[in-house]
Amino acid sequence: EVYTEKFRPQFHFSPREKWMNDPNGMVYFEGEYHLFFQYHPDGNTWGSMHWGHAVSKDLVHWEELPIALYPDELGTIFSGSAVVDWHNTSGFFKDGKPGLVAIYTNHDTDPISGDVRQRQSVAYSVDKGRSWSKYEGNPVLENASEPDYRDPKVFWHGESGQWVMVLATGQSITIYHSPDLLQWTYASTFGHEEGSHAGVWECPDLFPLECDGKERWVMLVSIGDHPDTIEGSRTQYFIGDFDGKTFINENPADLILWLDHGRDNYAGVSWSDLQDERRIYIGWMSNWRYANEVPTDGWRSAMTLPRELGLKKEDSGYRLVQHPVRELDVLSGAGKEKMTPYSLHEGETYQERMQTNLAHLHFETEADTNSVWALTIRHGREEVSLFTCRVGEGTITLDRRRSGIHAFSASFPAVQSAEYAEGERGGFHLYIDTSSIEVFSTGGELAMTSLIFPEGESIDFEFKTLTGNVVLKEWKVSQLRSIWS
Ligand code: FRU
Repeated sequence: EVYTEKFRPQFHFSPREKWMNDPNGMVYFEGEYHLFFQYHPDGNTWGSMHWGHAVSKDLVHWEELPIALYPDELGTIFSGSAVVDWHNTSGFFKDGKPGLVAIYTNHDTDPISGDVRQRQSVAYSVDKGRSWSKYEGNPVLENASEPDYRDPKVFWHGESGQWVMVLATGQSITIYHSPDLLQWTYASTFGHEEGSHAGVWECPDLFPLECDGKERWVMLVSIGDHPDTIEGSRTQYFIGDFDGKTFINENPADLILWLDHGRDNYAGVSWSDLQDERRIYIGWMSNWRYANEVPTDGWRSAMTLPRELGLKKEDSGYRLVQHPVRELDVLSGAGKEKMTPYSLHEGETYQERMQTNLAHLHFETEADTNSVWALTIRHGREEVSLFTCRVGEGTITLDRRRSGIHAFSASFPAVQSAEYAEGERGGFHLYIDTSSIEVFSTGGELAMTSLIFPEGESIDFEFKTLTGNVVLKEWKVSQLRSIWS
């Protein structure tokens, strides 16, 4: 597959054609990373939902397969998850061979009352996800009183010996458990009083991570777009404890932790059944505020880079850290490294011209306490994305107001900002594709994912000290290869 259209991401997954939103059913099985996704095969905007399907052997190169799940008499196919049923708890599999089980939301409207119905259903595959059979007992979980009742994420909880489901239920997450993936029992409800409720709760995930020999549980909750917010849709997380039944947030109820400080990372969840110790996550690289209007032709939306998640202990508690998966290193092509340390006094600029618009830049700084520095990413003559660090204030901003096409939505031209507390030492990784910038701090505590639509097809980097002096301790750029060639 070779993709050459304007704005087509070259090292991010996007569907061959038509509309895509949330990543779904990510599971690792028999050497393949599966990525299913909310898919509308008949249009370039959101519509009747199917599960599209792609597989990868390395999380970098993707092969798109035929649609996995089609709408049925219970409705269209909304978001959900997939697991390997290793011990055939479901009874779907034969001869001791494990297989894949998908748990998703069927969405429809009750023909009599006209009410929206969201019910959970199950499908299974005995051939590595190539074909799927729907369970004849569907739906397996329904609830007449809550119209928002969707996005089941299921995992095996070894300690209590059962399957656990986290489900988005309006302004909370409801937890269920099951011995066989088919019969589900209520366990607990989390979140009515916790975190951000700026929009409807969607796409939860719950998983353990280790830090200094201690296990904590992380709950991801995406928050739908609401007109009262500036940012549109985004994802928060909670840290706490989980005993197989109840999740307890260990932070103050009003503390809001954002997974990403850019506008374009939504509805992400993690892979199931990885065979190493990693927890790998991928998100949908868009925002409901303008996802249907972004200026691409024939296809719409891409996923973020896959990211490894971890925990870091700070004075105020545990925080999530994220790094692009190391597998992406295979994409590094021709590189340039600056002789460092390199001192820049106030007003001085260092420039680097790239022959490409696909790049990875890694730099580390040591800056005066009150300095301000800016990295200008020039895409074309008049097109710039501006990454600025105000060391004294402890803030980072990514300004895309002049990055390219933006008039499709009043919410698109934006300055994205975050606190950045590294003080005088800082370091960043930037991944720039044809229509996106992802920024990660070296320690992983800051991520900013941002779409851009520049007409220009090259990159010039300009690093400038605006106030005070800055030493570049490291500066390394590499051209990245396309995953589609
Ligand atoms: C999140 C979401 C989910 C839903 C899906 C429908 O982006 O709204 O809650 O299942 O998209 O496509």
